Amino acid sequence: MASGVLNVLLAFVFLISATTVLSTSLRYDYYANGCPAALPTIKRVVEDAVQKERRMGGSILRLHFHDCFVNGCDASILLDESTPSSKRNAGPNVRSVRGFEVIDQIKKEVDKVCGRSVVSCADILAVAARDSVVALGGPWWQVPLGRRDSTRAYLDIANNDIPRPNMDLPQLINSFNKQGLNVKDLVALSGGHALGFAQCFVFRNRVYNESNIDPKFADQLKNICPRTAGNGDTNLAGLDSTPVCFDVSYFANLLNHKGLLHSDQALFGGVSTDQLVKNYKYNPKLFWADFAKSMVKMGNIKPLTGKQGEIRSICSKLN
Ligand code: HEM
Ligand SMILES: *[C@@H]1O[C@H](CO)[C@@H](O)[C@H](O)[C@H]1NC(C)=O
Repeated sequence: MASGVLNVLLAFVFLISATTVLSTSLRYDYYANGCPAALPTIKRVVEDAVQKERRMGGSILRLHFHDCFVNGCDASILLDESTPSSKRNAGPNVRSVRGFEVIDQIKKEVDKVCGRSVVSCADILAVAARDSVVALGGPWWQVPLGRRDSTRAYLDIANNDIPRPNMDLPQLINSFNKQGLNVKDLVALSGGHALGFAQCFVFRNRVYNESNIDPKFADQLKNICPRTAGNGDTNLAGLDSTPVCFDVSYFANLLNHKGLLHSDQALFGGVSTDQLVKNYKYNPKLFWADFAKSMVKMGNIKPLTGKQGEIRSICSKLN
């Protein structure tokens, strides 16, 4: 009896996950025959890197986000300055995105266990982002696979399509809509700021000039971030009160007007997303489930598949 119910339940879960994946051409088992050791290898290298430097988990998660928002998840973010229009030089990326060496390292080790270059850098980013979240205490989800890598970089699109920290809610909603992501995705994915750090120059104006900020919190940040531009610009503050722990502090902080970025606090305080923020603060399981769902959705943005693009041999260089 119990096992009958279980079977029906399993069939149901299978059906739901199957439809989720069939809506794109990506598949969970893409490397099951070609290189079953690929995923465990990615996980191992991510865990080593995060153990060496806890911040790296957030940095890798952000790389995947910036990749997907610029013409789809095609690893174009990884191309270094030797590629024309490298997006490493785009405003939101330059002297800010990090973790490239870890991705190059993963690719090297994955190719070694596979015996050849079969796993794309775009898939490595998607899986490494998931493994980073898990390594810092967050949810696990199954990552659809089969992306291929771009054969060029897109500097202009990077400058236009990556949301900026001075944006207000309507602009943030627009930016996500443009990627096929809705308001709930915006709030859930902004919870990626459960991890990581920001530099003084991106939160200076908020700390010294804005009024919807807790005064004590602002004073603490003033100690880290001097008022005058050019002073302490790269000094770091956590994006939430627990920056190497994937929890709901980010949302709790927003309720207390302790969002670090203007774009964070834009999600709470007399706006239409207040209830979503509250839901996640009071229901961590709901946040985990929605974050995982929205990560899959973001990971499905315009992938190159089939014979499109290439499988790069070195993630930071075109073949
Ligand atoms: C909603 C619009 C978003 C804006 C405006 C935004 C903006 C920023 C900014 C300005 C920083 C600090 C960069 C620096 O100081 O060098 C940052 C860091 C970060 N962002 Fe976002 N972000 C957004 C959404 C996301 C999403 C969707 C994710 C992932 C799901 C994400 C993950 C991260 C992480 C993990 C860091 C810390 C990186 C590190 O410590 O190396 N962000 N973001
Ligand atoms: C505060 O706002 C003023 C007016 O927009 C601006 O000139 C000034 O640089 C801002 N101060 C900081 C610390 O960002």
